[in-house]
Amino acid sequence: MVDLSEEVQKIFAPGKGLLAADESDNSADTKRLAPYGIEIGPEMRQKFRDMLLAAPGIEEYLSGVILYSETLEQSANDGTPFAELLRKKGIIPGIKVDEGLEPFPDSEKETITKGLIGLPERLNGFYTKYHTSFTKWRAAITIEGDQLPTAQALVENAKRLAMYAFEAQNAGMVPIVEPEVLLDGNHSRLRAREVITKMMHVLVGALEDHSVDLSGVIIKSSMALSGKESGRTDTPEEVAEDTLGALQEAVPKTIGGIVFLSGGQIPDQAIDNLRAICKVARTKPAPWPLTFSYARAFQEEALAIWKGLPENLPAAREAMLARLKSASEALSG
Ligand code: 13P
Repeated sequence: MVDLSEEVQKIFAPGKGLLAADESDNSADTKRLAPYGIEIGPEMRQKFRDMLLAAPGIEEYLSGVILYSETLEQSANDGTPFAELLRKKGIIPGIKVDEGLEPFPDSEKETITKGLIGLPERLNGFYTKYHTSFTKWRAAITIEGDQLPTAQALVENAKRLAMYAFEAQNAGMVPIVEPEVLLDGNHSRLRAREVITKMMHVLVGALEDHSVDLSGVIIKSSMALSGKESGRTDTPEEVAEDTLGALQEAVPKTIGGIVFLSGGQIPDQAIDNLRAICKVARTKPAPWPLTFSYARAFQEEALAIWKGLPENLPAAREAMLARLKSASEALSG
């Protein structure tokens, strides 16, 4: 039997965190490659993943990487399968196991996450064939004034997150439960704090109802931020206060740990806010370990430099490594 809290501890190794490289094939094409003028398709997705995962030195800052199923079938340019390459570097491979979002029938502006059908079989397949040690499931929560999110959407998403978490633990892997509170909209930071608090309350209740071992679960949280269209930029101190306020109120100390997503913040902001959160978490001690689990904040500059061209690879990797280094330093506040 795998000791899940030991796996959790490895993820929160001092100075290290996660790279989210779990874009689905479609998201990799439309959100990572196409916007930078890079050709789309499986070959360029393999090169994109090689740019990220075969970069020398990432192991200094990364304890794990979240992958997508296609990536497990692909190899680095030197022929080493990606999951094996990560293991060789001492980085734990994880796998996104949800199957994306669909409209929530009870409230059409909201979404629920698909992927429970056939989940136990898929989990066992990833575990036995690729030796993944952790998994991720993402729900997306929309804020619109006081109307959204609806209680029903929070409850349904929490229930699915909990059912997934139970199955992941059953298969011997740590679940990362991610209820992403989206940055889109003109809401205030305090409204984001309120929604994060509510979502976490409902989520923790659902995890308990589904007999999930809380010490073997990682929560992936948004930061409490003013909406993208609000015209307001919050100071790192404000973000830290409201993010930790929400989490302290709703997340019990028995949860294995909390990782943060970058959520479309500009990279500097995502790192400055992380630093402030970690600083406050030290002075008003937070009961759980904290680290980063960023996709966009680590990848954007690298993609803009790389443009899919081999001659730009070293500079692109250097830019990503610089971001990983500052995120790692931010963890010490
Ligand atoms: P971002 O850091 O780009 O928000 O991505 C993290 C993630 O895994 C979203 O599911």
